[in-house]
Amino acid sequence: GEAAAAESERTLIVLKPDAVSRGLIGEVISRFERKGFRVLELRLIRLQRNQAEDFYSPHRGKDFFEDLISFITSGPIVAAVLEGRNAVEAVRTMIGSTDAAKAPPGTIRGDLGLGLTANVIHASDSHESFEREVEVLFPGFLTKERSAASSADSP
Ligand code: TYD
Repeated sequence: GEAAAAESERTLIVLKPDAVSRGLIGEVISRFERKGFRVLELRLIRLQRNQAEDFYSPHRGKDFFEDLISFITSGPIVAAVLEGRNAVEAVRTMIGSTDAAKAPPGTIRGDLGLGLTANVIHASDSHESFEREVEVLFPGFLTKERSAASSADSP
């Protein structure tokens, strides 16, 4: 029902190359675990340029797009799917505003981030973004989930 759906909402996070190179993987994942989120998927990957452009396709054409693509492909990233209560909104609150210099203390970007492009972490901003992004970084995730759900439903 609705309550169960709210408890098991999913979101996607990406620890950007600055987070990985600065040794912040454990710190960031730990914050989400301490808050009660479950890690459903976790992978260290290096994005190809075309994957990065797909991932950030809503920003195509913006003046920061090239810098963003160069940055996100500059080194390994950690992608993860988190599950928990109100995950999309709660995780966005925990990461803080886009510009790390302006993000409040207590948020991940506020405590750990240095810049606007190098701002430690990405998190889906809606359920629709999650569904699009998860298929770029974990192809088949949604179909696997749906077939697991339907086999659980039928005897
Ligand atoms: P955006 O989706 O607006 O922010 P958020 O990551 O908080 O959802 O932008 C995506 C990324 O693009 C952002 O994390 C950093 C980069 N970016 C810039 O480099 N310069 C900018 O002016 C903006 C708005 C974003």
